[in-house]
Formats: sequence, C-alpha cells, structure tokens
Amino acid sequence: MKGLHVVGVSHAFGDNQVLDTVSLMIPAGEVVCLLGPSGSGKTTLLRLAAGLEQLQRGTIAIDDEIVADPNTHVPPEHRGIGLMFQDYALFPHLNVIDNVTFGLLGQPRDTARRRAMDMLDQVGMAQHASRHPHTLSGGQQQRVALARALAPEPRVLLLDEPFSGLDSNMRGQIREETLSVLKASGVATVMVTHDPEEAMFMADRIKILGDNGKVLQAGRPHEIYYHPRHEFVAKLFGMMNSFRGIVAGGHVEIPLGRISAEGLDEGVAVEVLVRPEGVILESGGATGAPVEIISTHLLGHDNIVRVRLDGTNGLGQELIVRIHHTFEPELSQRITASLDPEYAFIFPLDEAGQTVSQSVAAQ
Ligand SMILES: Nc1ncnc2c1ncn2[C@@H]1O[C@H](COP(=O)(O)OP(=O)(O)OP(=O)(O)O)[C@@H](O)[C@H]1O
Ligand SMILES: [Mg+2]
Repeated sequence: MKGLHVVGVSHAFGDNQVLDTVSLMIPAGEVVCLLGPSGSGKTTLLRLAAGLEQLQRGTIAIDDEIVADPNTHVPPEHRGIGLMFQDYALFPHLNVIDNVTFGLLGQPRDTARRRAMDMLDQVGMAQHASRHPHTLSGGQQQRVALARALAPEPRVLLLDEPFSGLDSNMRGQIREETLSVLKASGVATVMVTHDPEEAMFMADRIKILGDNGKVLQAGRPHEIYYHPRHEFVAKLFGMMNSFRGIVAGGHVEIPLGRISAEGLDEGVAVEVLVRPEGVILESGGATGAPVEIISTHLLGHDNIVRVRLDGTNGLGQELIVRIHHTFEPELSQRITASLDPEYAFIFPLDEAGQTVSQSVAAQ
C-alpha cells in the first residue's frame, strides 16, 4: 500500500510508557489527524515515523518499505518524509526561495528553482520569493514552510500543530488552503492538532490518543462526533451536560426525556452526556422539562443559553444550550427543554462512579 503504515508501536522513555501498541495506516492522499492530551505521545509518534527517534517495538513502513523495526533504522533523509513543526523553523539567513530549494540540493540548480517556484506558486507566495522570513507574517511563513516540506515530493508529510501560532481568522483561511495543497499533492499526511474542530475540518480520519498511550478511538469525523465511544472523546468538543441515571425497562430517564439504552443490562448505573446542541428549548412547549433562562450570549450564528432546570429552592441543575440565534427568549420567560437523542451518549459507570468501556449511542 502506498502511504504510511505504523503497526503495534510502543515507546517508553525510561519507565514512562508513552505509546502502547499504537497502529496507524494512512493511504497516499489521505489526511489523518492525531488528537490527544498534552504528553500523550503525539510528537513522539511523529518523531518515530520521521526516524528522529529510535524505534523500540513495532514496525513502520512507507510505501511497503520497512523503514523501522527493532532491527532496521532507515535514516530520516532516506525516508521520503516532509516535516513541519509549529515554529516553521525557516532558515533566517536564507530568503524564501532558498529556504524552499534547501531540500532539493541533489537536483540541478535550475530544476530545483523551477520546482521551488512552482510550490511557492501553489501556496500563493511566488511574489515573495526574494524576501527573508523575518519580513513575513506568521501566515506567510507557514505557507513557505509548507512549500519547503512538499518541494521534495515526500511520500509522507508530518505536521505537528502547524497552525497553532496563527490567529483564528488566519488559521481558518490557511487550513483551507493547506488542505487543498495537500489533496493536490496526493501525499499521506499525519497532522497533530490540539483543536478538535480543526481535526474535523482537515481529517479524512481522526485518531484519538489517551494519556495511557493507547488509541481511545479512531474513525471518520462524523463517527467521532456522533458516536464517541469514550467519555473523553465525547468531551473533546467542548462542554457537555451530564446526567446520572439507571437503566430500567431498556431506557434511562433524565429530566429532558427518556433515552433508549439498548445493549445495557437492567439496573446498570450510567452517565448520560448531552451536547449543548442536543437540548431543544421551546417557549410554551407541551412536553419537556420546565427551565428558567439564566443568560444568553450571541456567538454569531448561534446563541449559547444557560438555563436552570426547575428544582427545589432554585437549586435545579444548570444546563448549557446551543441554539439558533433567532431564539431570543426574555430572561424571565419560562420555557421547556427536551432532548435530541442524536446528541446524547450513554456511558456505563463502574462501582466507583467512573465511566467504563464504550458508550451506547442513545436512540
Ligand atoms: N526525549 C525525551 N526524553 C524523555 N522523555 C520524553 C522525551 N520526549 C518526550 N518525552 C516525554 O514523553 C511524553 C510524551 O511527549 P510528547 O512530546 O510526545 O507529547 P505530545 O502528545 O506531543 O504533547 P503536547 O501536546 O504537549 O505537544 C511526555 O511525558 C514527555 O515528557
Ligand atoms: Mg507535541
């Protein structure tokens, strides 16, 4: 298979087990995003793939060629890998075109310059070819770094938080441009990001590492968002509303309604997590739980609304709701809240009250 194939890789620094039998397969032309808490081994995995770190266990193959196993270590420069890290690491003393031709040293000067100009053109930086990095904005430097990484036509591109230095406006634009350049090049890309929305946007598939060095879940963005199999994965995308309940008659009853708990045993204690967009607010609704509005904040397209479920002495549970901006209730107005089960996830609890194993998608 063309692309990057990581099989059963484990890695420890001393007695710190950073990666535990992690596997990853990225066909040419696909983008896989790695998400995970700080210290979960994302950079270590990229460094192992690049050959900057000696592999301890497992196998890494690129286009069916084994580049690393416990007895093999193909040096980084012979792996056909492009690298780009958060700080871009452009050479400050070289201008833009010389930065990009740097990785093309084996080629005749004319060919190298033509290839570099072609790449700069693709990232919209051809007109800045003679400028030096310190005269460029962060976004422009990022584009040059991308051109430099792709100029030698790598088989695999490894990106470690490539957009984290950019402000949010710039980030949106650059990631769109980057994605189209990656897709045009057909390279197999692994991108580390801290931003789950960025992963949703960029990735064909997302891989989530836990802090135990294991893969918690892998799948297409839709699967990760709508079928999280782990509490941590469900909570990646921001605040959740959390409820406790017991499976009875094949259902779990929470104040917002009743959820099917297919596949769970009777009497099992569960946590139900509901995304803010899974709470439906209605004024004068006939069903649902009465709530009191605490505050509303306009985000643009959506409103973020805080509500309180009716409870004794105003002590009812607070909920966070994401709802279309046209919903603008008066603060004092009483309305009802119900549930869109597509955004609700059930996780069984163990005796200590911790969530265990996989979630059961609420129906
Ligand atoms: N060369 C090293 N020697 C010893 N420990 C290391 C080394 N490199 C990384 N570690 C440790 O391995 C663990 C994983 O580090 P890594 O940089 O891969 O995490 P990460 O997922 O990239 O985190 P972040 O999101 O903060 O960048 C951390 O506990 C780190 O301290
Ligand atoms: Mg890192």
